Amino acid sequence: MRIVIVASVIFHSLILILNAQHANAAISAETRKLIHKANRNGPYLGLVIPNFFEMNPLLNSADYHSRRRFRFGAIGNKKVILVMTGLGMINAGITTQLLLSFFHVEGVVHYGIAGNANPSLHIGDVAIPQSWAHTALWNWQRYGQGPEDELALESNGDYTREIGYIKISNYTVNVTDSSTYDNLLNNIWYQPEEVFPVDGTPEDRDHAFWVPVDPQYYNISKTLEGLELKGCINSTTCLTTTPKVVRVERGTSASIYLDNAAYRGFIYDKFSVSPVDMESAAVALVSLQQRVPFIIIRALSDLAGGGSAESNEADIFINLAADNSVTAVLEFVKLLSTSSFQFPN
Ligand SMILES: *[C@@H]1O[C@H](CO)[C@@H](O)[C@H](O)[C@H]1NC(C)=O
Ligand SMILES: *[C@@H]1O[C@H](CO)[C@@H](O)[C@H](O)[C@H]1NC(C)=O
Ligand SMILES: *[C@@H]1O[C@H](CO)[C@@H](O)[C@H](O)[C@H]1NC(C)=O
Ligand SMILES: *[C@@H]1O[C@H](CO)[C@@H](O)[C@H](O)[C@H]1NC(C)=O
Repeated sequence: MRIVIVASVIFHSLILILNAQHANAAISAETRKLIHKANRNGPYLGLVIPNFFEMNPLLNSADYHSRRRFRFGAIGNKKVILVMTGLGMINAGITTQLLLSFFHVEGVVHYGIAGNANPSLHIGDVAIPQSWAHTALWNWQRYGQGPEDELALESNGDYTREIGYIKISNYTVNVTDSSTYDNLLNNIWYQPEEVFPVDGTPEDRDHAFWVPVDPQYYNISKTLEGLELKGCINSTTCLTTTPKVVRVERGTSASIYLDNAAYRGFIYDKFSVSPVDMESAAVALVSLQQRVPFIIIRALSDLAGGGSAESNEADIFINLAADNSVTAVLEFVKLLSTSSFQFPN
């Protein structure tokens, strides 16, 4: 396998090529020199993007300029590095870590599309949550045990019953009042991540479930409410509501494409979540551990299984949602570049 990072600085193009050998062991002197050269032009804002359809509207925007394909450029007078992660939590975590390990990055902006679990929001809206959690680190309880029973390895401090659980048999269908029902899949308990912040004691674990975004970035994002967004995919098909940017309490992520009304209802009731996606919590957890400020902007492309349509709405609205997320990101970065806020390194 070969990892290729193509990078171009605003005036001097440069290409960083890291092969497996470099990635596995030390970085070559040549690559180090190129990274050092790039960092002399920093600090940058790191823009972390899941997929092509979410990145292309930004690359095509007149506001983003770069001499080469992508990666190093600027929005307004803010120097930025763009990087695409690929789908899912592992890709998002690896990519964010590489970005923050190699380059002098003052903050991370992650954006893309998401499913919507919050019935008061609509497709096309752009959600900016205050906190994110990864909801697929589980302790799956054996059949026969319940909420009063200690989980495996709970007494070690490895697992906890504090966050709560989903009871599979609650979702049994065609139950009559008189029948009893149960399910061998029993209960799944949500767990916090183990985190090892860079400024913590080595090997001394903390735990984190909800990870708050940077409070100053969140503050600045309030200005995005009222931003005009795209409401139509073409001359005949429009959203039924006027899309808007909204700051919300919570978003969740897991490497699971959610298209299921029952689970959507469960996580909304349990966690008050609005956007549901597959990468954001990984970006949040890595940024938390690296102590780098971050914010996440996700446009809602579908109802995560909660809609009445035969197929998932993302089939139709994915590009509109991606465009709306980019509109919000461009505005946010411009606000940052004109803002008098100074972020500590
Ligand atoms: C299961 O369903 C019961 C009855 O509706 C409800 O009281 C309980 O909170 C649910 N529990 C879980 C963990 O989903
Ligand atoms: C529930 O029962 C009805 C009537 O017997 C049937 O039409 C339907 O397919 C059943 N649903 C499921 C999910 O099994
Ligand atoms: C957020 O903004 C409010 C008012 O605009 C200000 O009082 C508060 O200190 C700000 N908080 C942060 C973390 O910047
Ligand atoms: C607009 O998009 C919808 C949904 O994809 C499609 O059914 C319709 O034909 C399109 N209309 C035009 C004028 O392109």
